[in-house]
Amino acid sequence: MFRILFCLGLIVCQSVVFSGFIYPKYDDSLILKWWQSGVIYQVYVRSFKDSDGDGIGDLHGLTEKIEYLKDLGVGAIWLSPIFKSPQYDIGYDISDYRDIDPSYGTLDDFDKLIDESHKAGIKVILDFVPNHSSHEHEWFKKSVKRIAPYTDYYVWKDAAKNEKGERIPPNNWLSVFNSGSAWEWDEERQQYYFHQFLVQQPDLNYRCPALVEEIKNVMRYWLDRGVDGFRFDAVPALFEVENLMDEPKSSKSDALPTDYDYLDHPYTQDQPETFDMVQQWREVLDSYENKGSDVTKFFMVETYSPIDKIMKYYGTDARPGAHFPFNFFFIQQFNRQSNASKAIDIVASWLDNLPAGKWPNWVFGNHDQPRLASRLDSNLVDGIHMIQLLLPGTTVTYNGDELGMENTFIRWDQTVDNAGLNVGSSRYQLFSRDPERSPFIWNDDLNAGFSSAKKTWLPVDPSYWINNVEAQSYTNSHLKVYKQLVQLRKSKTITHGDLQLFEASEWVFGFIRALEDYPTYIVVVNLGSEYESIDLQKIRPTLPRYLRAKIYSINHSPDVKLDDEFLSSDIRLTPKSSYVLTTADIIENDTTDLK
Ligand code: NOJ
Ligand code: MG
Repeated sequence: MFRILFCLGLIVCQSVVFSGFIYPKYDDSLILKWWQSGVIYQVYVRSFKDSDGDGIGDLHGLTEKIEYLKDLGVGAIWLSPIFKSPQYDIGYDISDYRDIDPSYGTLDDFDKLIDESHKAGIKVILDFVPNHSSHEHEWFKKSVKRIAPYTDYYVWKDAAKNEKGERIPPNNWLSVFNSGSAWEWDEERQQYYFHQFLVQQPDLNYRCPALVEEIKNVMRYWLDRGVDGFRFDAVPALFEVENLMDEPKSSKSDALPTDYDYLDHPYTQDQPETFDMVQQWREVLDSYENKGSDVTKFFMVETYSPIDKIMKYYGTDARPGAHFPFNFFFIQQFNRQSNASKAIDIVASWLDNLPAGKWPNWVFGNHDQPRLASRLDSNLVDGIHMIQLLLPGTTVTYNGDELGMENTFIRWDQTVDNAGLNVGSSRYQLFSRDPERSPFIWNDDLNAGFSSAKKTWLPVDPSYWINNVEAQSYTNSHLKVYKQLVQLRKSKTITHGDLQLFEASEWVFGFIRALEDYPTYIVVVNLGSEYESIDLQKIRPTLPRYLRAKIYSINHSPDVKLDDEFLSSDIRLTPKSSYVLTTADIIENDTTDLK
């Protein structure tokens, strides 16, 4: 759908000179599905709301907070893993795919959460971990003992021998969590098993048909229970080459030989069989839609792969894959040095590579990445949300980012993430993901209202007494800006309008969303540290002489008010500030086109 119409520089369209990239509008008759129009909000359950005072967030706590989610306006929640797990990788090591971990509640609590969410018009998406289970899973225990049908459920290989005839792993493959070899010897079975992640996360074997069917049955189990879709974890890691070729050394000079980055990973990532498996999973999901319900069962896949590989996860028209693979470009490529042209490149590269008819998405944070406010700039939070929520496509928000939550400093003695613990006290801050997983900040009560426990599983951010949901409800805040943007997203211009990306100056990135007969919206974000004055007439001469601010960042110039008129040839932006400007007369209320 998104084919670039015109290239860089000045282009001529309907005899008017526009500057920048233009992407066409969607067909008016396109009716967006729930996963396209709604915001998908990632709930890190362990840190969201603790209802039983054990310092760990749980399902009942989350159910209590549905009102907050409804008020926020999100269309779906994606829950980080809640299945039974010994928690070596905080739930990404599942010991029973068909049960809830007791620290999060029971299956009854889960059913209640689904019911209450659905009543509130919110869909529920589960995190699904197909690449590996826990070493405590019954399947693994039986596989060790070669009990059918589990014998080949995992990737088992014989040992190799060194010159001295001693046992060594089958090849040089490394674990993602920087603990050296991805192979672990099992005394009982007298073979090595493969684990891309922790030793406690043995990889499942997708070359075993019984395992493939088992996983599909787990999907069906949760779909039958009423879930609306899945986020599939670590999908590129599903298959490895069968000839066990050594992986080549990477060019990353600061990586230690035990670090994952020490090698490139052509033989353990994005294998051709993986794309086919994703298409098979889509068939399982679509079989539900075809059963008569017109409600899509949805899935998105996690991948940090190169662009050509990422796009293959969408599948083809004949054999679709994921509804979308996550777009992490703004996490991977955008930083404090990035200017407007970089922002354009990032947006354009996704849209230009998108296969025809497929749907874009924008992700700025998750539980594995430093918080966006810390990674970029806390002053830029509103501008980032304008970009994320008003570009065409689905927005995926990590809980707390709507408040501009920052990384919490976690001392070495408080560290629980094995990705940090594995590398020792001198390097843990490079790898630990604890800082972005600290408890949600609800109010200024004990533990920010997250829990009544004396000690929570990770410390609450010390700034909670001043910065929390309640405090942000009283003043002009990131939370309020976020909510306004979620509402504006529903307007026909944003759901169906065309997109013009532009660079108003080296540091002011912007875009225009326009649709005939509807108000035009212009987003301008000052990524820089200086005061800027820009001329939008140069970007789009058909804009009226005056515009109004529909939404403005909390760090906007203090003398600007919502109903002020802006001279479109002279828009002024304080450092890191941003606006959504409109051609509509907002006093007369331009929200009539909201669905
Ligand atoms: C990606 C998940 O987001 C991360 O938290 C986890 O550690 C790995 N996959 C392994 O499952
Ligand atoms: Mg609890």
